[in-house]
Amino acid sequence: MQFKKVGVWILSILAALLAVLIADHKLETCLIRNQLFNLMWDYMGPGVDECLTPTKLSLLKQVTGKVVELGPGHGSNFKYFAKNSVTKVYAVEPNLSMHPKLSSTAKDVGLDVEIIGALWENSNLERGSFDTVVSNLVLCSVNDLQGSLDLIQDYLRPGGVFLFIEHVAQPNGTAWRTAQNLINPFWKYIGDNCQVNRETGMLLKAMQGWKEVSIESEDLCGGMGLVNPKIYGYAIKA
Ligand SMILES: C[S@@+](CC[C@H](N)C(=O)[O-])C[C@H]1O[C@@H](n2cnc3c(N)ncnc32)[C@H](O)[C@@H]1O
Repeated sequence: MQFKKVGVWILSILAALLAVLIADHKLETCLIRNQLFNLMWDYMGPGVDECLTPTKLSLLKQVTGKVVELGPGHGSNFKYFAKNSVTKVYAVEPNLSMHPKLSSTAKDVGLDVEIIGALWENSNLERGSFDTVVSNLVLCSVNDLQGSLDLIQDYLRPGGVFLFIEHVAQPNGTAWRTAQNLINPFWKYIGDNCQVNRETGMLLKAMQGWKEVSIESEDLCGGMGLVNPKIYGYAIKA
């Protein structure tokens, strides 16, 4: 009987939280969601960074020159950049509650970082001028995936490189893909607009304008099927 009461309380609290997040989601600034995600990423981010370390070490040493990173969060990627070959980093992070930690990480690693509080889709940087674009677990959350990929390509100079690690949809017809499709409408409210069933790698490959695209796919970070497989690699602008 006692258990039943506790269960009802927990379910009521969860339902109320979901209702608040859904309502907040419609606000321009998503105040509550942003604060909650900031706290959640403070707790989860270091573990995710640790399990992605081997992949980041080999991928992000290629970061050079004028760099833009979309959704850098608390700046977990900065320490993997080869400081001497990076001139400046533009950090496009729409969640303003993440900015204090982002800016202190930038100071700690000694990079010249300019923080831009905007959605990637609304950022307005110089097109054709960047040597490197970095995205780590962000394209699942952008509002317009194809538009964001187009913008990545637009910002790069010819020969510039897009480096990414992203979680994507499971293959069609698998049980995990069905689970992803079922959970997706709810997940985005607790996961900062994160969509678990995006075919990001396929869209990237299908785009014109790349000279070379390399995509590896693997289950990383505990192999939880909802946020796997992860794709990582690079795309070089023609
Ligand atoms: C899962 S976190 C990853 C943070 C960081 N890249 C890392 O690996 O530690 C997703 C990040 O993407 C940001 N984000 C979500 N939608 C975005 C958008 N449309 N444009 C730019 N960043 C966005 C979030 O604010 C958050 O910082």
